[in-house]
Amino acid sequence: MAQGAFTADGCPVEVYRLLPPGDEPGIVHAAIPEGASILELGSGVGRITHALLDLGHPVVAVDDSPEMLAHVRADKVCSKIEELRLDRVFDAVLLGSHLINTAAAADRAAFLLAAGAHVAPGGRVLVEWHPPEWFDAVRDGQGGVLGEVGVRLDRVVRDGDLLSAVVRYSADGRSWSQPFTCRRLDSEALNAALTRAGLVFERWCTDDRTWFSAKPA
Ligand SMILES: C[S@@+](CC[C@H](N)C(=O)[O-])C[C@H]1O[C@@H](n2cnc3c(N)ncnc32)[C@H](O)[C@@H]1O
Repeated sequence: MAQGAFTADGCPVEVYRLLPPGDEPGIVHAAIPEGASILELGSGVGRITHALLDLGHPVVAVDDSPEMLAHVRADKVCSKIEELRLDRVFDAVLLGSHLINTAAAADRAAFLLAAGAHVAPGGRVLVEWHPPEWFDAVRDGQGGVLGEVGVRLDRVVRDGDLLSAVVRYSADGRSWSQPFTCRRLDSEALNAALTRAGLVFERWCTDDRTWFSAKPA
């Protein structure tokens, strides 16, 4: 059966349509004021966007995949994050999906600069990342079931700070594979990247340290 469209970074659009919102909207909602406006970078199909709208937040969703954005029922902008130049700022900017762990330092810098350029004075940038300990713990075969989607990691390979793997998704008799490479950042590297974007670490938003907030320096 056809596997449908994939994004430039290898995400299968159909999988993101099937995945449930999970904990992410609640984590974001708890970290920002009621009704705070949100710029969501890398929104995909709106899995988190739509739940945040239901929680009372006006959201502008950004993604460079027209196939993903076609499913978003919110204000949306088709753009690469690094090229985003909106003439407005937001109470919160959301940089989820471990985009900050991108292997390329230049991409990480550009993502954070875009976040910093669009956050209001007194606002927050909320980041989801793979903390350093994740890189030690992750194993072949790790995974589970999210909604109706089976998720399994395969071919985990470590090379210094880099970790490559393939995520295998299955649902409804179909399957998809998404290879990825991500980079471990220690706290020094993280803080340096934030500083270069005019941001400063504020606090952990979850006990497992997979989400944190940063604010304009
Ligand atoms: C892993 S998906 C996650 C989507 C959504 N955040 C979610 O959790 O359901 C990552 C999304 O970020 C988008 N993306 C990745 N790099 C991007 C970039 N440089 N500019 C714009 N969008 C990007 C992809 O097209 C994809 O839709």
